[in-house]
Amino acid sequence: MKPLEFKKKEKTLKLIDQTKLPLEITWVECKTYEDVAKAIKDMIVRGAPAIGISAAYGIAIGALAINTSSANIFFNELGIICKTIKNTRPTAVNLFWAVERIWEKAVSNKDKPISKIKDIILNEAILMEQEDTTINREIGRHGNPLIMEGWTILTHCNAGALATSDYGTALGVIRAAHESGKNIRVFADETRPYLQGARLTAWELMEYKIPVTLICDNMAGHFMKEGLINCVIVGADRIALNGDTANKIGTYSLSVLARENNIPFYVAAPVSTIDFSIESGDRIPIEERESEEITHIKGIQIAPRGVMVRNPAFDVTPNRYITAIITEKGVIYPPYDVNLPRLKL
Ligand code: MRU
Repeated sequence: MKPLEFKKKEKTLKLIDQTKLPLEITWVECKTYEDVAKAIKDMIVRGAPAIGISAAYGIAIGALAINTSSANIFFNELGIICKTIKNTRPTAVNLFWAVERIWEKAVSNKDKPISKIKDIILNEAILMEQEDTTINREIGRHGNPLIMEGWTILTHCNAGALATSDYGTALGVIRAAHESGKNIRVFADETRPYLQGARLTAWELMEYKIPVTLICDNMAGHFMKEGLINCVIVGADRIALNGDTANKIGTYSLSVLARENNIPFYVAAPVSTIDFSIESGDRIPIEERESEEITHIKGIQIAPRGVMVRNPAFDVTPNRYITAIITEKGVIYPPYDVNLPRLKL
C-alpha cells in the first residue's frame, strides 16, 4: 500500500486522499509545489516520513518548473519553494530534514547546468522514497524480536504504510511480527480528533489480515489494567537527543498508563525523525489545529457554538517512559542522551 506516487512523465505527485479514507479511495494530483504544500497542510498526506517525501517531491516539481538560465534566479526561486514547503506543518522534523537534504544537494551542485541540477533534485527525491521503504523494513526486522507469540499490541494514530512511503514504522514492526508467523493482535486507539486510528490504522491492518480491535482513546487504561495489552508501539514526529518524543496527541497519556501497568512502551521511527539539534523535548514546536476538528464531526457541529477550544495535534512523551526506540540502525535503549547522538550519520 503506497500513499504517494510520483508520475515522472507528467511531473506530478499523486497522493491518496487520507481525509477521505477508508470510505472513499480517491487520489489527488499535485501539479505545482503549491499544490503539494496545500496537501501537506490539509493532511491529504500525513505522517512524518510521508510528509518528508512529499516535501522532497514538491520541491522537485517546483524546481522543474523554474524557467531561467540564471543560477542566481534559480536558487532564489528554489529558496522560496523550500520556504513555502517548510511553512506547512511545524512538528514533524522529517519535513525540515527533507527540505534541508534537497537544498544541500542542489547547492553542492550549483556549478552544474540548471537542467542538470533539476535532474539531481528529482533523483534525490526518488532516492528518499526508495530509502524510506528499505528503512521501514529494517525497523520491522529490528523490532520483531521484541514482540512475543500471542501478544496484543496497542498502537495510537497511524504509523503505517500510509504515513510513510510504504510498510510503516510502528505498523512495520507489527507487520514483521505477523509475517514471521507470530499470532498477534492489535488494539487501535481511534485517535481523536482526526481519527487516524479508526480511519487509517484499522483499515490498513484489516487489509493485511492482522486481527485488529478498535477502541476509543479513553479505553486504553481500562484494557491495560485488565491485562489485555502486552506492549505499546507508536511512531514519532520528532525525537530530541535525550529521547523525549513528540507524537500524536494522547501518546503521553498512553506512556504514563503503560508505566503504571508495567507494560513496555516502544517508539518506532527512522533516524531522520531524530532532531540532532535539540537536547530535549521542551524545544519541539507543537502544532495547534483548527477548533472545528473538535467541535465538528464530519461537518456536523457537536459542541455549543462559540465554546473555547484547544487543539494541540501532538504531545511530548518524556524519555523516562520509553522502554526503547526502534530504528533502522537497531533498538536503542536508555540512556538516550548517550545512545541517540551515536546514530548521527
Ligand atoms: O497529524 P499526523 O497524522 O501527521 O500525525 C502522525 C503521527 O503522529 C504519527 O504517529 C507519526 O507521524 C509517525 S508516522 C510513521
